[in-house]
Amino acid sequence: MRSVIDITDLTTKEVQELCDTAIDISKNPEKYQNACKHKKLASLFFEPSTRTRLSFEAAMHELGGDVLSVAGADSSSTAKGESMADTAKVVSNYADIIAIRHPREGAAFVAAKNASIPLINAGDGGHCHPTQTTADLLTIYKTKGRFDNLIIGLCGDLLYGRTVHSLMHAMERYDNVKFVAISPDELKLPSYMKTDNIEETTSLEEALPKLDILYMTRIQRERFDDQNQYERLKNSYRLTPELMKLTKPDCYILHPLPRVDEIAVGVDNDPRAVYFEQTLNGKHMRMALILKLLNDTSNSNYDIGEEGDFKCINNKCISQVEQELPQKFITDSCGSKRCVYCDN
Ligand code: NCD
Repeated sequence: MRSVIDITDLTTKEVQELCDTAIDISKNPEKYQNACKHKKLASLFFEPSTRTRLSFEAAMHELGGDVLSVAGADSSSTAKGESMADTAKVVSNYADIIAIRHPREGAAFVAAKNASIPLINAGDGGHCHPTQTTADLLTIYKTKGRFDNLIIGLCGDLLYGRTVHSLMHAMERYDNVKFVAISPDELKLPSYMKTDNIEETTSLEEALPKLDILYMTRIQRERFDDQNQYERLKNSYRLTPELMKLTKPDCYILHPLPRVDEIAVGVDNDPRAVYFEQTLNGKHMRMALILKLLNDTSNSNYDIGEEGDFKCINNKCISQVEQELPQKFITDSCGSKRCVYCDN
């Protein structure tokens, strides 16, 4: 079966097909209302979520399917010490497709490897969040009419912001896409995300006039080991109606939400502020993705990487806590080793 751990598990052709299906769903919802009748989505959320969990569950309901849900690690056997691999095997006996969110990076990979039904990563720690990216992509497509020739500003917590990482993976596949990474020095992109088409800056004001899209994000309080550092950095950026005057007339503002105070409420009235529309796009894209995966006969391959005398350096990686999990690495063209689970 086919699972989606990161957005690059989908080809650009498949992304376009998902956008087309999502647009059709939004125009003709009745056509899809029984499309997943008698199918069950297991919604496993081991980390807080409002819109991702509800939009997955709403998506399955609107396709005529059912939902089994676990919300919070405390209410499942994970609290008793069950491994991700065992949880995935068990849930495969009860549902037809899984959506999973987990604080450990690489958790969705391990779950998908052990599940016998399709699985969708709904966010694994600070690593990836591909279905938020599908929402972002549909929003970009509907507002700009294209995925190529864009300058995209990414602002806020670029170190821990998994939505930023997945969006970059998606967009770097299109022609002439450039990124302006706007963050405090302490929250720059992780080194494994760095490529040639990224300009890094700490100044939102300087970046604004260049951008076709501004992707704002909150500072991710829950991912800081040092809460004093969070307090120091939490007010790094705030997009206001005043600052909006520095943008191009067709620069759209996206945000995965939740917003803390990095976008002033006054910006919401600007027609280029599309973050609430983005949440609706997310539901339609999740409907399109569930439909696709339930009907896909191909197989994802999770038997990758080699075992060796190395240990992943990332203390948030799933391989640090699942005792039986082999440490596995892929060697890139420069000879560096990358953890198969968390990419560090
Ligand atoms: C994002 C997430 O969970 O990573 N939210 C979401 O899925 N809509 C962004 C965030 O929490 O800041």
